[in-house]
Amino acid sequence: MLELKKYTSTNVSHRLGIDIVSSVKLSSNLKQSQREKSFIEDICKRVQKTSTVLYLLKLDNNILGFIALSVSSIGDFPSLQIDYIFVNHAFRGKPLEILDNLKTSDYLVDFAIEIAQEIQKLAGLRYLVLLPDNDKLQNVYKDMGFINLPKQNWLYLKL
Ligand SMILES: CC(C)(COP(=O)(O)OP(=O)(O)OC[C@H]1O[C@@H](n2cnc3c(N)ncnc32)[C@H](O)[C@@H]1OP(=O)(O)O)[C@@H](O)C(=O)NCCC(=O)NCCS
Repeated sequence: MLELKKYTSTNVSHRLGIDIVSSVKLSSNLKQSQREKSFIEDICKRVQKTSTVLYLLKLDNNILGFIALSVSSIGDFPSLQIDYIFVNHAFRGKPLEILDNLKTSDYLVDFAIEIAQEIQKLAGLRYLVLLPDNDKLQNVYKDMGFINLPKQNWLYLKL
């Protein structure tokens, strides 16, 4: 069964980061896996501090991945920010039938776009934004439709 669970400051436990890290496969590269672990723990702390909402996608008892979202602004324009997106290494690069043949990352980004469009109707949001962790990842997001902000590393998608 596919399940998308929402974590906010009101229902997050201080163990969420530890639970996620112990239930997923991280990158096989040691340096990268440590980076993923510290990002996951940091993001879960941000959920406790109310600045971020985390959506955890599970299939049966497996964590497929998660997306963490917060509100920010680009210049004068209110935006929805992807603080972090993470896919369990066991599912990276794989389209899944249960996700309408999308990869988990594409499914989570589509979900973020839907949320952004809902907020837009209520409060005039303009962009979905994210800061890729490194240059190679820029192309992964550009393939999803994000484009560069002038003279910055941030990427954005106009809603
Ligand atoms: C980023 C992520 C969500 C993309 O998932 P995906 O769409 O299933 O794609 P893949 O993992 O197959 O990665 C696509 C390409 O990006 C590369 N890539 C993935 N993560 C990378 C990273 N942190 N740094 C550099 N390259 C990375 C992969 O090697 C792959 O390259 P290839 O196409 O040449 O083989 C997933 O790789 C992930 O969870 N990474 C760890 C967490 C992370 O870095 N999040 C992004 C923060 S901005």
